[in-house]
Amino acid sequence: MNKRLKNPSKYLGNELTYLEKVLQTESWSATSGNWNQTLEKAFAKKFGIKYAVAFNSGTSTLHAALVAAGVQPGDEVISPALTVFMNTSATIHANAIPVYADISRKTFTIDPADVERKITQKTKAIITVSLYGLPPNMDPIMAIAKKNNIIVIEDNAQCFLSTYNGRLTGTIGHMASYSFENTKHISCGEGGIIITDNPVYAESVRKIGGHGFKNLKADEGRVRLKQDIFQNPHYKRHDILGWNYRLSEFNAAIALAQLEKIEALLELRIKSAEIFKQVMANCNYLIPQEVPDNYTHSYYTLGVVYEGEARIGVPWEEFRKEYIKAGGDGVYGAWSVPYLEPVMTQRQFVERCPAIYKTLRYREGLCPVAESVQPKIMQFKTNYRDISLAKKKAAALHRVIKKFSKKKPA
Ligand SMILES: Cc1ncc(COP(=O)(O)O)c(C=O)c1O
Repeated sequence: MNKRLKNPSKYLGNELTYLEKVLQTESWSATSGNWNQTLEKAFAKKFGIKYAVAFNSGTSTLHAALVAAGVQPGDEVISPALTVFMNTSATIHANAIPVYADISRKTFTIDPADVERKITQKTKAIITVSLYGLPPNMDPIMAIAKKNNIIVIEDNAQCFLSTYNGRLTGTIGHMASYSFENTKHISCGEGGIIITDNPVYAESVRKIGGHGFKNLKADEGRVRLKQDIFQNPHYKRHDILGWNYRLSEFNAAIALAQLEKIEALLELRIKSAEIFKQVMANCNYLIPQEVPDNYTHSYYTLGVVYEGEARIGVPWEEFRKEYIKAGGDGVYGAWSVPYLEPVMTQRQFVERCPAIYKTLRYREGLCPVAESVQPKIMQFKTNYRDISLAKKKAAALHRVIKKFSKKKPA
């Protein structure tokens, strides 16, 4: 660790060295600097994939991927019912209709059978989510997509280098999206990246996220390389409508430094999760997310179904309080199913395009498995930079389990 920085929960290696290098250059933007490109090449190499395109978040990635997939106003995009709201917001920002597929009760990931039931003539894309770091069952989803000519976007914001039947997540769908937000395996504050083997998608997402500059390429994000052309008053710059979703060179430099340490970062999360899982092994009311055979999990967090209300008569909130009191930390509930967020129930989205949305309504009961599992989920923190701290927290959990073991079943 750099001696001038004392933040063991964040700085790991070359962050400050790289930041100083960026400060010493003229180019603080991806339009002319080299750090975005270095990050993209290193990221693509890590996945053994041809293209990586850096973005300023793991939501702008999803929006750009949907547009690049050819999603048009009124098309339908299927995403799971247990996920962050950003799958929904990216879909609506693409003027498309969010359609929700239910989840598998044990893995919490999208249920391919329900995906199949939700396919219509209007389905254009499926966003799969590797929830908490666990890949979904991708083979049947890819088969459904192939049969119906649908594009699959893997949302791996929470998942780094997990495998599914021996394949790396991120290399299975047509495109894959990652986030570098503060809590993710790799973080630069805010940021994201799309990977793909398809040069058409790579160029397309780069242009969509880069103001539609016509000289952007699948593997080139710098628009000002040829000064004589770019500075000429007769030069026409834009041939599609885009957004500015570029990552700054500072963020790219930090993300690169973090990527260099990804194996160590991953190991810490996986080890922390295993320590917590050991403590839960004989507890019949803390049931961890199931990891099927031939899957690996990168444990962005450890998701658990809490059945303590039914089995020991202790409500979710009370158990959390006891854990914190015993010295634990970082227990979160899962997000509401997206279609029951106020923005959706109050139908605020209708205003943006009444022609598309005026008849669209979502109701409780749409995805019953997700709705019943969501309130029971407890997410345990795995983001410890020191395994002894994870052990301390797991010991606190052990004390709480022991204390409640004396309680008579409800
Ligand atoms: C599964 C998933 N998708 C997308 C996002 C959005 O990423 P960002 O916060 O970088 O926009 C997140 C981050 O919270 C996420 O967890």
